Formats: sequence, C-alpha cells, structure tokens
Amino acid sequence: MNVLVATDKPFAKIATDGIRKEIEAAGHTLSLLEKYTEKAQLLAAVKTADAIIIRSDLIDAEVLAAAPQLKIVVRAGAGYDNVDLAEATAHNVCVMNTPGQNANAVAELALGMMVMAARNLYNGTSGTELKGKKLGIHAYGNVGRNVARIAKGFGMEVYAYDAFCPKEVIEAEGVTAVTSAEELYQTCHIVSLHIPATAETKHSINRALVGRLPKGGILINTARKEVIDEDELIGLMEERPDLKYMTDVMPAANDTFSAKFSDRYFSTPKKMGAQTAEANINAGIAAARQIVGFFKDGITQFKVN
Ligand code: 3PG
Repeated sequence: MNVLVATDKPFAKIATDGIRKEIEAAGHTLSLLEKYTEKAQLLAAVKTADAIIIRSDLIDAEVLAAAPQLKIVVRAGAGYDNVDLAEATAHNVCVMNTPGQNANAVAELALGMMVMAARNLYNGTSGTELKGKKLGIHAYGNVGRNVARIAKGFGMEVYAYDAFCPKEVIEAEGVTAVTSAEELYQTCHIVSLHIPATAETKHSINRALVGRLPKGGILINTARKEVIDEDELIGLMEERPDLKYMTDVMPAANDTFSAKFSDRYFSTPKKMGAQTAEANINAGIAAARQIVGFFKDGITQFKVN
C-alpha cells in the first residue's frame, strides 16, 4: 500500500524516520509531502495514496475526490475538525485520530502560557505567581488531565468542567468538578480551554462567559480558534483592561488583538502545542501503527467516522 505523510507543519525528522520504519517493515511504501504551499500539491500527492497521515491538514471533499485509492486517513493528533467526516464516510474512507499521544506537549505549553501571562509577558514589571491560584480546566480530556497534573505541581487549586466526564472521574484525580461552564469561569483566576471545535462549541466562549472571570483573569487557548467569539472577546477586553488572552491558535482577528492589547495578548505564529520531538514521535508512530494494523488485521480502534 502507498502511505502518504502530508504535513504542512512537518514532524521532527526523528518522527518521520520512525514512521518510515513502521510502514516499510510492514511491506508498504512511504512518501512525504511536507511544508506544501498550494492545495494543488496535496491534490496531486493523494492520487495514488491508499493511506494518509495528517496533522491539521485539511481533508475536504475535493481532496477525497482526488484520492480514488484512499482507504484510511489518520490524524496524528487529537482534533479531527479538519477532516470532512461525512464525505470520508461517503467515500468509504476510515478516519482515525491518535488520542492522548500529544497531550503532554500541549499541556506543558498551556502552563508555559500561564506563566507568561502571570509575569506580564516578561516585560520587566512585577507579576504574580501561579501558586495558590484557582485554575479552571474547561473540558477534562487527555490534555485537560495533563494540565491538572502539572498545575498541581505549581501548587494551584484545580477545578474542571466537562459535560461528558463523570464528576467521580475528575474528583478521583484531586480536581474539584463544577457543574457548569459559568461556575468554572466565575470561580477561577485562570481558565484553560480544551474543548473540541464542533457545531455546538463554535463561538461558545463569549462575552457572557469570559466576563465572569474575576479581576485579573486569564484565558488560555490551546484548543481551537473557532470556539472563541472573537468580536465579543475584543469588546470585553476593551471594557476590562485587567483581562489577558494567551492563545496557541491565532485568531482570525490577530491584528486587532495585537494592536489593541499588545501588553496582555499573545499568539504563537503557528500552532506549537504539539510541536515537540516527543509528541511528533508518539503521534506519528501511533498513526503509522494504526495504518499497519488496519491493513493487516482490520483494526479500527480509533475510528471516528
Ligand atoms: C491536536 O488536535 O492534536 C492538536 O491541536 C495539535 O495539532 P497539530 O498536529 O496541527 O500541531
């Protein structure tokens, strides 16, 4: 089978070497399309692909139509909002993710952004410490749990809200479960977002919710830009000069945020949460093994469509 790794943001070389080893040991061939600049390059590369490994790369109807041999797409990572699942199913293409494999990397970055915000973006002025502060984890999945683990090491009081995770599971890990997002935001000094981008969550992080943060509140977003109502957040930050927003997913309105709030807003230029050698190895090799298992034994454990 022909396996294509199509990554606009490439994995570390050690990870692609590992992927190649797994794929070739199983008798398949591997090709790489990295740092592509035009969709046409992806459309050409998928023509002969039986399997594709991607990151945040867009797999839409046009890409699926250009890939007549395609049987499986594995998103090396957690969020699969970049894949048109209905269209993949219509083409009989199995879509998987690799849950948890890059979670620690994203969680470490979330804590790094908290320190950056608490220390006033390292501008030389006196900041605050994380110790003793209340941290709210919005969605207690693989990343949220890792954030909780690390935050406890900082001496933070950790709270979480997750509509789908039972209270007992959260509390068994020494985290206080609250019963609504509203309660989380009004209780915590810092909220770290870990919700997926879905039709239900789109623009759900709005003025009414973020406005509940106490004075000096910090919002950390290592999730997706689509979950934020950017116009409302800009309006709220104009009214509340005490609020800070740190994001690893550049807003559509990045220029406005930067111009208006340069001393309390930061965005990475490109999503960096999962961009570590360890996360690339974990997620990339998991993706390769899932493809090998799918072709050899029909294993579909992490199928999402
Ligand atoms: C994920 O959903 O796994 C993270 O957002 C990481 O995305 P990336 O692989 O594009 O860095």
